Formats: sequence, C-alpha cells, structure tokens
Amino acid sequence: MRNHVKFLWSEILCFLLLLLLLLLLLFSYPCHVEAKSTIEPCNSSDSCPSLLSYLLPWDSKLSEIATRFHVNVSDIMASNSMFPITPSSAHQILGAKSLVKIPISCSCVDGIRRSMSTLYTVRASDTLASISDGYGGLISGEQIKSVNSINGTNPLASGGTLVIPLPCTCFNNVNNGGSAIYMSYVVQRGESLRGIAAMIGTTISDLETVNGLAQTQVDSGDILSIPIAACSSATLNWYSESMMVPNGSYSLTASNCIKCTCEAMNIKMRCVPSGLDVPCYNLRCKGSNLIIGDEYVEHSKTGCNVSQCVYRGHRGGKIFSR
Ligand SMILES: *[C@@H]1O[C@H](CO)[C@@H](O)[C@H](O)[C@H]1NC(C)=O
Ligand SMILES: *[C@@H]1O[C@H](CO)[C@@H](O)[C@H](O)[C@H]1NC(C)=O
Ligand SMILES: *[C@@H]1O[C@H](CO)[C@@H](O)[C@H](O)[C@H]1NC(C)=O
Ligand SMILES: *[C@@H]1O[C@H](CO)[C@@H](O)[C@H](O)[C@H]1NC(C)=O
Ligand SMILES: *[C@@H]1O[C@H](CO)[C@@H](O)[C@H](O)[C@H]1NC(C)=O
Repeated sequence: MRNHVKFLWSEILCFLLLLLLLLLLLFSYPCHVEAKSTIEPCNSSDSCPSLLSYLLPWDSKLSEIATRFHVNVSDIMASNSMFPITPSSAHQILGAKSLVKIPISCSCVDGIRRSMSTLYTVRASDTLASISDGYGGLISGEQIKSVNSINGTNPLASGGTLVIPLPCTCFNNVNNGGSAIYMSYVVQRGESLRGIAAMIGTTISDLETVNGLAQTQVDSGDILSIPIAACSSATLNWYSESMMVPNGSYSLTASNCIKCTCEAMNIKMRCVPSGLDVPCYNLRCKGSNLIIGDEYVEHSKTGCNVSQCVYRGHRGGKIFSR
C-alpha cells in the first residue's frame, strides 16, 4: 500500500514537472521573437519632420519628457494640440499610460533613417532595461547596448552619456499622393493592426503597404510606421518659409506670432495670430481692415465677394500676408 502511494506521488511529480516545463516553454517563447520594426534605407544627409508615439511609462512633467527626448516643451505641446503655452506649461503633469506625440527630426545615419540627436545621462540605478522602459519601448536595451558599444570593458557607467537611436521614417513625406508625416508606434500587448488603423484613422492595407507587412499579424513590441496626413505650405506660395503640420496639431512660426493649425476636416492649413504674449507687428493685411486669418464674405446680386487676409511666410522679423 505504501509503495503504491509512493508510485502515485512520483507520477504526479513527474506530471507537474512536465507541465512546468511546458508552461516555461510557452511563456519564454515570445521573449525569443525579435520585435520587428520598419526600416527605411536612405542615402542622403537630409532630414525630415517625424513623430514618435510615446506611451508614458510613469507620470511625467512636460519638462521631463522634453529633456528625455531633447525637444522643446512648446514643440511637444504643439504636436499634441495643447494650447495656450504659458510659463507654467513645463510643470504640467501627464499621467502614466498617456500617449504623447514627440516631434523629432528624422535623419539618415549609416544608410538607415533614424534620429540620433537624443542623448541620455546614465543614473546610478539604471540598467539597459530600465533605460529602454523609460523610452516606452521605442528602443530596446539591446539596441542601446550595440550603438554605444557597451560590453565588459565598457560598462554602463553612472554619469556617462548614451546615444539613444530612435526609430523614424520619412518616405518622402508622401502617402497616397498626399503630404504625410510618419509616426513610429510601439504595438502594445493585445493590439491588432485593425485596432491601430481604426485609432489612427487609416486603413489596414495602408499600414501593410507602408510597413511592408506580408500578413496582418503584429506582435507587442513591434514598431510600426504610421502615416499621418499633413498640411504642407508647399502649395501655399509662402515667401522663404516651409512648414509641414500633421493633422490634429499646430505649429508656431514668425517668432511665435502666428499659429498654423492643420484642420482635421479638410487637411487645410489655417494660420492666425497666436495671441501669445510676444510682440507682433504687421498682422493686418495692407490696405484692408482684415487681420491674418480673417475672411470677409460680401453678398451681392452678382454673387459673393470673398476677401481674405492670408499668412504668406516671414523673413527678418517681417510677416507677409495677402
Ligand atoms: C538614393 O535613394 C533614393 C530613394 O531612396 C533612390 O531613388 C536613389 O536611387 C538613391 N541614389 C543612390 C545613388 O543610391
Ligand atoms: C527650442 O526653443 C528655443 C527657444 O525658443 C529655440 O531657440 C530652439 O531652436 C528650439 N529648439 C528646437 C529643437 O526647436
Ligand atoms: C568593448 O568595446 C570597446 C569599444 O567601446 C572595444 O574597444 C573593446 O574591444 C570591446 N571589448 C570586448 C571584450 O568586446
Ligand atoms: C484627421 O484627424 C481626425 C481626428 O483627429 C480624423 O477623424 C480624420 O480622419 C483625420 N483626417 C485624415 C485625412 O487623416
Ligand atoms: C468685389 O470687391 C471688389 C473690390 O473690393 C469690387 O470692385 C467688386 O465690385 C466686388 N464685386 C461684387 C460682386 O461685389
């Protein structure tokens, strides 16, 4: 009887061990899959405006986010349509898990599109994994290690400076024949291409084409390049200024006197005085009562007469309009 019980116990133990092994295999499997990201080869030294979609790992002040990515607070605010900008804006706290758009300049380094202008100062408690976490998965610990040649003889040292290579694409700032700015997006656990397409307001096939995906399967940690329709000044006949503003955001120009918004309804650039506390001149169109951004419609028997005062660029402190 005792022997029989013993036998049963060893059977159960064996079964449990097998189960454990199976579970271990199952859970470790995703760790061995290298996250995919969209690579754009390049051969020039030009750069383009691009965005990062940053999922805040913890509550952060705007100023902390700006420091982390080496970007101005006001530029982050503009990309996220936060207005107005005041001296206390930098102290504004955004909650963990907020998605924040970070504007970065996408350059061409060693034949691949990426941004290399972000530097990180190592703190005493940092590990490669914790630094990667701080960037919301936009860069892996392995990539930081490789770009900065971190090894046994060159370890992570507190106070040292690391280059953080951030993923970005330009694709000539065009998508489906229209102007576009590309945003790097980290796929989260449980997200599907369909869900991401719906959230961004694009189609699955568009995302597949841009990212060269053979199937609709995406995995958590993958980095997708997401085209966002943009307003471009290229067709607006501006003097000595060019600007590209993604849908749903604005950009300040002319020494912060002018605020140009890319209107979601028709992807049209609309520039008006910013109203910010800065000295601004020439905001009125010559020989007219209209201020930049104003439109005046006069109805008559023969039709209607539309008078507009439209922003046309700036140079040397002078604002042009017509
Ligand atoms: C540079 O890149 C562009 C687009 O990626 C390509 O059309 C062109 O042929 C390339 N030029 C050279 C010299 O490789
Ligand atoms: C940040 O703002 C300062 C002052 O407004 C400006 O001189 C600088 O060019 C800006 N930097 C970037 C990267 O836009
Ligand atoms: C570690 O990296 C340095 C460059 O930072 C290199 O000179 C050295 O050979 C590397 N050592 C090992 C063991 O790979
Ligand atoms: C612009 O953004 C809005 C939401 O912010 C979205 O509904 C609209 O589809 C976008 N337009 C284009 C052309 O992507
Ligand atoms: C439109 O305005 C112009 C000048 O402001 C004027 O000469 C013209 O008669 C107006 N036309 C109509 C239909 O009101």
